[in-house]
Amino acid sequence: EITNYKYYVGGKFIQSTSGNLIEIICPYDQSIIGRVQAISKEEADVAIAATKAAQKDWADTDLFKRADLLNKWADQLEIDAEEIAQMIMREVGKTWNDAVKEVTRTAEFIRYTVQEFIHTNDAAMSGANYPGGSKNKFAIIKRIPLGTVLAISPFNYPVNLSVAKLAPALIAGNAVVFKPATQGAISAVKLIESFDKVGFPADILQLITGKGSDIGDYVSEHDGIDMISFTGGATTGRHLSSFSTMKPMVLELGGKDPAIVCEDADIDKTVAEIMSGAFSYSGQRCTAIKRVLVHATVADELSEKLKTAVEKLSVGMPIDNPIIVPLINEGAADYVQGLITDTIAAGAELLVGNKREDNLIYPTLFDHVTTDMRLAWEEPFGPVLPIIRVASDAEAIEIANASEYGLQASVFSQNFSRAVAIAEKIEAGSVQINGRTERGPDHFPFLGVKNSGMGVHGISRTIESMTREKLLIINV
Ligand code: G3H
Repeated sequence: EITNYKYYVGGKFIQSTSGNLIEIICPYDQSIIGRVQAISKEEADVAIAATKAAQKDWADTDLFKRADLLNKWADQLEIDAEEIAQMIMREVGKTWNDAVKEVTRTAEFIRYTVQEFIHTNDAAMSGANYPGGSKNKFAIIKRIPLGTVLAISPFNYPVNLSVAKLAPALIAGNAVVFKPATQGAISAVKLIESFDKVGFPADILQLITGKGSDIGDYVSEHDGIDMISFTGGATTGRHLSSFSTMKPMVLELGGKDPAIVCEDADIDKTVAEIMSGAFSYSGQRCTAIKRVLVHATVADELSEKLKTAVEKLSVGMPIDNPIIVPLINEGAADYVQGLITDTIAAGAELLVGNKREDNLIYPTLFDHVTTDMRLAWEEPFGPVLPIIRVASDAEAIEIANASEYGLQASVFSQNFSRAVAIAEKIEAGSVQINGRTERGPDHFPFLGVKNSGMGVHGISRTIESMTREKLLIINV
């Protein structure tokens, strides 16, 4: 029996009257996992309208009551972790260990978010500090919620990157309309089932499901939405920003994160960091290392060691906890295979890989990739890594910055001053020195420049993005 999962409005799981359902297919065994509701625009209107009154009451609710409910949700997630992880694994093909880790990481995220907000205090300013200002004028600067936040989350962290929006929004007193990626929507239902057990007021969080092109676009330009927080592909992000006029928006998009390897790098450590940065979850991370820019003098040694490491990577099904798992769907696998085929035709040296079974792309490593090849610039979101040889730091920086993306970068060198000098010149949100690219720990600011995003994520910054200042000015 295949389950039709409901959406969540007014504190209840309900079935859409549209009669339209979307089948969710397992990425690795192609079975039907379940169906989600493709809700109508009218149903989205009802969900959004209902947040209005609920949000005002929620914002007026004592902060410690809001905090208590969110902490209870964190506890509930830990209780439900295995059930939720089971669905993450089935729906997005993440390994069992990573799926469990995603849920526990999320519980920690909620607890830290609660503490962060509790320790945010209002600020005060005196008029006397401005030339000619009056010492009889004081401003109390408060942080108030924006209203209803639209949270749109991606497939690759269906629980963690959803809660990374929901928890900051809720603790600050916002209501949320939550639209998960369609592949990931059943994991989102499981997440909200655990939310529902805690006893939050109705209508402060609505889970709506349906195709982005139908319902996602519609709600993004909806007057009832006061802020949009989106994580996903760069094309969708740009599309959303084009019609959500005058709404504050935070976008976390793709990347083509380079690992710059200097000739004085600790090569064994560098190899370990590149391997985990590039290949975990088959490279389906916005922060994955997606190109290696190595000094020509150590390129042979690095490429030999990377080749050996890639040959040893475990490949298989998520339940067995390998590094390489099947990609999210056939279209994604077709795209990555297309890039591989194109790179071979363009004359790069295939060191290992170029093997496919359905959605499973075996880890693939290329040497002698040059800047006229697609793989030097495009984001595969799959397990394929190009090595590009460079003659100098300046050339590495130039190629790193020529990308349309600027999420993160890694620099490997044992000369700290040199690594910092390179890092200073890289156009990216963060540069990791002697470490792999990654988002966490989750309280660090997380941002991309250029096509990698707009605004800043990370617990305190997300809270800031979902609140605004309000001044009470006291004239004595
Ligand atoms: O896919 C985008 C995520 O923000 C990456 O997070 O670095 O923890 O894998 P991660």
